[in-house]
Amino acid sequence: MSDPFPTTVEQAAMLLRAGQLCAFPTETVYGLGADATNPDAVLAIYETKGRPRFNPLIVHCADLTMAERFAEFSPLARLLAEAFWPGPLSIVLPLRPGHGLTDIVTAGLDTVALRVPDHPLALELLRAADRPLAAPSANPSGKLSPTAAEQVHKGFAGKVPVLDGGPCKAGVESTILAVDADRLVQLRAGALSRQEIEDAIGRQVEQVEAGAAISAPGMLLSHYAPNAGIRLNTTPMPGEAYLAFGPLAPHNSLVRNLSEGEDLHEAARNLFSMLHELDAMGAQMIAVAPIPETGLGEAINDRLRRAAAPRT
Ligand code: TXA
Ligand code: MG
Repeated sequence: MSDPFPTTVEQAAMLLRAGQLCAFPTETVYGLGADATNPDAVLAIYETKGRPRFNPLIVHCADLTMAERFAEFSPLARLLAEAFWPGPLSIVLPLRPGHGLTDIVTAGLDTVALRVPDHPLALELLRAADRPLAAPSANPSGKLSPTAAEQVHKGFAGKVPVLDGGPCKAGVESTILAVDADRLVQLRAGALSRQEIEDAIGRQVEQVEAGAAISAPGMLLSHYAPNAGIRLNTTPMPGEAYLAFGPLAPHNSLVRNLSEGEDLHEAARNLFSMLHELDAMGAQMIAVAPIPETGLGEAINDRLRRAAAPRT
């Protein structure tokens, strides 16, 4: 067995070049990485996560130059990439002829989701591996996304090597945007708010409609689920754990506060790790305080609604 915690980027890159999996840190969440040009390596991602069907995966690149080998960038797409890469924005674009990615990573679509992560170890790893890396969040399918190396380790019972880069600074997944001619359609709310994109690009970002032609096939309703049950927009009943937001009077011990100062960035960063903690403390039911639906609140509420959805 390989080293469960490869200590150097070079070791992790060697595993990936050899077609093995290795988890790595990004600014959003930890990713379960594989060589995006190697079908067997990408298949191992689905197998390891227990992902129910072949959802397309995000392909991570070292920079825009690498990304341009795989997709056609319209002027608007290039503007977005230049404004936000490296950063928590995945852009869905038409595949380029001769791209060399395995069609397992795109699930046979004629588009690909690309991003350049804003984490020094991820960027070093991409350069050392010298190839694009497919990476979904490094957790068993349907469970909470990991924002620390130990959570990845625990989720896969120590079977996946993890490059440890400390806690993730954003804490929720990247925002996914489809660029369709002149339209920008948000397929998944994420660590970059629509407002930030609109302010930088001067163009409206539409929210995806249910059943729309362009969509992210992976947006299963029950997802990001802790072991405990979840009740939203509420206060705890006796015996329930509480995920608070905002100033809080002293309370029972099963409490975590996403942000005492009502800071949505802090809340996003804390979201998954606090749910992990409440799970580990044995919570059966977690009551979650209301979170405003503005800015990053959109992504936080999206993840919470999925965590609270009936489990399949
Ligand atoms: O922050 C993130 O994005 C993390 C880190 C590791 O980078 N990755 C991540 O990947 O969240 P994953 O596999 O959990 O989410 C990929 C999402 C899925 O909802 C999938 O359906 C969508 O991206 N997607 C991928 N390719 C697509 C495509 N060509 N068209 C539409 N949606 C696509
Ligand atoms: Mg995921």
